[in-house]
Amino acid sequence: MSISDTAEVLVLDSKKMPRHVAIIMDGNGRWAKLRGWHRTMGHAYGTQRVKEIIREADRIGIKVLTLYAFSTENWSRPSGEIEALMQLLRDYLLKERQELLDNNIRLQALGQIERIPTEVRAILEDTIEVTSPNTGMLLNFCLSYGGRADIIQATQRLAREVASGQLEISQIDEARFSDYLYTSGMPDPDLVIRTSGEFRISNFLLWQMAYSEIFVTDTSWPDFEPSHLRAACEAFSQRKRRFGQTDEAQRKPL
Ligand code: FPP
Repeated sequence: MSISDTAEVLVLDSKKMPRHVAIIMDGNGRWAKLRGWHRTMGHAYGTQRVKEIIREADRIGIKVLTLYAFSTENWSRPSGEIEALMQLLRDYLLKERQELLDNNIRLQALGQIERIPTEVRAILEDTIEVTSPNTGMLLNFCLSYGGRADIIQATQRLAREVASGQLEISQIDEARFSDYLYTSGMPDPDLVIRTSGEFRISNFLLWQMAYSEIFVTDTSWPDFEPSHLRAACEAFSQRKRRFGQTDEAQRKPL
């Protein structure tokens, strides 16, 4: 750690740090195209940033880091790009598993994991299994993830339980609904970061980001460095969160 890193960490107020940071890692394709490269080069450089941002998030005390790595809509991309992304995920997991273990980080995958190709899925499930006893930062990879699909699967499970008589309709409230989402048991994201300048949610954590603070940066994901993450956390610490209430009558987040 350099002296300047130490100084910046001291500036971040741990009481005002986001517990859960979720990131829409956008702009890989455009970043590569600007350099006259194939889009997949952007994803390869983006994977390097994934490693650095995980390390930095852990270092500055973020409790849950959620990365939007592959959406339900991304299955419509050219097959070569999908294969390249799956290969990068596979290589990441094989190379970084030990680092996750060494840093007490627990990995989870959120999404329709059954759609991930068998070989990559086996490595993913194995990494989730070996890191499951870890008690440090929770790292979520959103894979084949869609916010609408998440809400649908939760609704289907609840409906099945009502139909079988295990649950009363009146027992369905916000807390129970949250329990049936992929993010069950986690705090909602305090801060959602989107790289590459677009002001869109893109089917990410639709239910969970009801009261998230949103930080959009023009920086493309392959250029997003640890200092950018610290800057986003610093901006978050300056925000006044009211959760729909007035300044005087604020409630604590769930
Ligand atoms: C969006 O950029 C990014 C993705 C669809 C993939 C994100 C994947 C990675 C960063 C690497 C693999 C991840 C892990 C977890 C190892 P885009 O291609 O939509 O960019 P564009 O908007 O410029 O076209």
